[in-house]
Amino acid sequence: MKKNILIGPFKQLLTMGGIPLKGAISDLQLPIIEDAGILIQNEKIKEIDSFSHLLSEVIKEETEILQLEGNHVCLPGFIDAHTHICFGGSRAYDYALRNAGKSYLEIANAGGGIWDTVNQTRKTTAEELIKKTLKRVKQHLKNGVTTIEVKSGYGLSVEEELKILRTINAANAEIAIDLIPTCLAAHMLPKDYKGSASDYLLEISTVLLPILKDEKLTNRIDAFIEESAFSKVDISPYFKKANEMGFDITVHADQFSTGGSAIAVEFKAISADHLEASTAKEIELLAQSNVIATALPGASLGLGCNFAPARKLLDAGCTLAIASDHNPGSAPMGDLLAQAAILQTFEKLTNAEIFAGITFRAAAALNLSDRGQLTEGFLADFVLFHTDNYNEILYNQGSFKPCMVFKKGKLVFDKHRS
Ligand code: NIG
Ligand code: FE
Repeated sequence: MKKNILIGPFKQLLTMGGIPLKGAISDLQLPIIEDAGILIQNEKIKEIDSFSHLLSEVIKEETEILQLEGNHVCLPGFIDAHTHICFGGSRAYDYALRNAGKSYLEIANAGGGIWDTVNQTRKTTAEELIKKTLKRVKQHLKNGVTTIEVKSGYGLSVEEELKILRTINAANAEIAIDLIPTCLAAHMLPKDYKGSASDYLLEISTVLLPILKDEKLTNRIDAFIEESAFSKVDISPYFKKANEMGFDITVHADQFSTGGSAIAVEFKAISADHLEASTAKEIELLAQSNVIATALPGASLGLGCNFAPARKLLDAGCTLAIASDHNPGSAPMGDLLAQAAILQTFEKLTNAEIFAGITFRAAAALNLSDRGQLTEGFLADFVLFHTDNYNEILYNQGSFKPCMVFKKGKLVFDKHRS
């Protein structure tokens, strides 16, 4: 067994290294290495340089050489920092109702929406949920995603949330892509809960959170702050407890009404996600903080509503991550690259800002410092596109798919073989 792998040459390799975490980025700031190669050792990048130089340097007996034909552009593996892909059932009927004029909140109030998926997910066995989750993960993998966050939130009781989080961890063990679980027990007050929102959150924080720590099921806590979900008064003791226990916090913020982003800033959340309703006030608040602003164009496309003000967020100095929000209700598409490319045209974002939003800035939204860039010491997670110029990728608005995906140095998707 050879200990190193050398892959290349790539016509262009975009390292995504050395770019600031915050603010606007021009394409001129993209670090591009021409005719590059990647030398991999123990799942990580050992060296990046010109392929011919690396080839002349490596010890042939110790190195497996994968020499590619034709032109390829290489980027870090994409990171989808916000999804809800562990669910049972379908909400195609909700989708039809919305397109016939009913609003997301009207459907939710009539018993559809998140609660409908909770009922369908509770009826699904853990084995079935693992299969369904893995099927969706494989779809993301084909689109170049090598790390994917997966939220619970369709269980909404201690037992059912545990079932989902254990499922996500079990699915993670079966696939090369990294699944990053997040507890979203605070998605809405379950309709069958006998008590107030505060009572429910107290039960979750005293019973569920310690089990999450004990079983190492997740280190991340999310909550949906919205008029139809939880208020600042409801959530504050819950986030305080989560902070004390050392969980990272992330927030579904400013989707339909404002308020969530201020809570994210107050509780030093890692990210505030959605932001479709954010105004100049919320943008300024986020820009003054270290909270990462995550735009979810898939939810805007699924609901037929405006995008988060991504251009303004970047110009104000925020860190912008972009994620798919893949879920059965508001974002059924689940194609991160297509959604990011569409956001780009509506919000006038540069290629550099889009690639940053789905690579190193998305890694920061998950508090992961070992991926999202192609530099020495980082995980060897990367995607290849069959082209000689990176401009071709987003130009095709998502219909141009990666030809190969590598995770920790292993080829995990090859278009020619699938
Ligand atoms: O991020 N906004 C709340 N939660 C999800 C939607 C979940 C659902 O509709 O099932 C979201 O859009
Ligand atoms: Fe979401």
